[in-house]
Amino acid sequence: MTDADLIEAARTAALKAYAPYSGYSVGCAILSTDGTLVTGANMENACYRLGICAEQSALTTAQHVFGLGQIARIAVAGGNGSGEVLTGDQSVTPCGGCRQALLEASHLAGRDFEILCASGDGTRVERLTLSTLIPHGFGPASLSDASPG
Ligand code: THU
Repeated sequence: MTDADLIEAARTAALKAYAPYSGYSVGCAILSTDGTLVTGANMENACYRLGICAEQSALTTAQHVFGLGQIARIAVAGGNGSGEVLTGDQSVTPCGGCRQALLEASHLAGRDFEILCASGDGTRVERLTLSTLIPHGFGPASLSDASPG
């Protein structure tokens, strides 16, 4: 699967978003080390703070299907999903909470992730490493001095 294919999968997934409050649709595509693809989209709620981001939706499915430790590649796309295709020329980057969730998966995978951050129309793509997105992050290793309960 090419990078363009992975971005297309994220763009297509965004069309499944439930985003009536923000009107902003996000899709995330995650490929496993053995080539299995899973996707997710944001799902909002009338109780706004309960909305789920596309990345966390896709990560949940990734854990269910092949395990977070088997994540190989990730693409995210965000924009206007009201039509037949996702539109918009501003690339999306994962929110702070999603960066934290991705950090947990990165720890399990044992390596940094490159995340393809695409615009809705897919024309603008930023390649950002997770370590760039969340430097000095608090991850599983940060708990090494905790006392077991
Ligand atoms: N959103 C995501 O799904 N992922 C992100 O990383 C950024 C924000 C969603 C949450 C909300 O449904 C909408 O985009 C507007 O914030």
